[in-house]
Amino acid sequence: MISSNIGIIGHPIGHTKSPVFQQAGLDALGIDETFEAWDVPPKKLESIVAKFREKNFIACCVTLPHKQAVIPMVDELTDAAKAVGAVNWIFNRRGKLVGHNTDGSGFLRALREKTCFDPKGADVVVFGAGGAARAIVHALKGAEVNRLTIANRTVEKAQVLASYFSEGKFKPKAIGMAKDEMANHVPFANLLVNTTSLGMSGGPAEIASPVTSDMISAQTIGYDAVYAPPMTTFLREVEAAGGEPAGGITMLVFQGIEGFEMATGRSAPVNIMFEAIYSAIKSHSN
Ligand code: ATR
Repeated sequence: MISSNIGIIGHPIGHTKSPVFQQAGLDALGIDETFEAWDVPPKKLESIVAKFREKNFIACCVTLPHKQAVIPMVDELTDAAKAVGAVNWIFNRRGKLVGHNTDGSGFLRALREKTCFDPKGADVVVFGAGGAARAIVHALKGAEVNRLTIANRTVEKAQVLASYFSEGKFKPKAIGMAKDEMANHVPFANLLVNTTSLGMSGGPAEIASPVTSDMISAQTIGYDAVYAPPMTTFLREVEAAGGEPAGGITMLVFQGIEGFEMATGRSAPVNIMFEAIYSAIKSHSN
């Protein structure tokens, strides 16, 4: 099943866009490897991960549903993987497997390099309290935001996340998603981040949004971790309010770029990798 030294595991994996831009990056640097996509059901995970220790194996990107399950299967975790409690890259370092997480750093790079927004000192509302929110809250803490509110349908989960990352002056506030509660926070935010599955194509709430335009300030950047469709209902609400919408494809590519750079030890050809994914999306929608 595994016939190359770098790739991505998930289940299902048919939808993955990673090979498109990763291959473009490898080719541009003249690295003679094929970035494969491996569909690995949970019961086969352990035996597949064990193969990553083989001599020439380089690295593997890890996606749903394996990001937590691989933790006990690697030899070492980086601080980011420990803090987020999930692994989205495994690197083979001379037979030792190192689990890392680039979702949060990929998000920050997307925000800084593609949206030209530095969250330092910003007031931020994150919608959702699942795995994606965990990575993003960790990144925003490191980026020294001023105030962070976590709004989630199940308020208890927002509370768990907020207290997990509370430290010193950084004290995220947990709220529910009722309109009156959100009205005390959302209109004052410089940055809104959707990490819920609302708006995801093929999902049960494809046309839903965590918030409507009447609550959003025109000075706000709205980032949606959802990348399919590229323009979600949430982003339309941000745009209708006069704010700046930013879709999640940039986070997807930058988490991959961060992994690519650690796997190859080389600077990624960022523009080439973005061009590859944009042209793949364009030809897919034509
Ligand atoms: P991921 O790892 O991608 O973040 P997840 O852990 O399943 O996925 O989290 C999904 C998030 O979307 C959760 O915050 C979830 O809210 P609950 O914690 O209340 O379940 C949120 N979510 C999913 N469907 C939702 C809906 N219909 N309305 C509001 N929030 C929703």
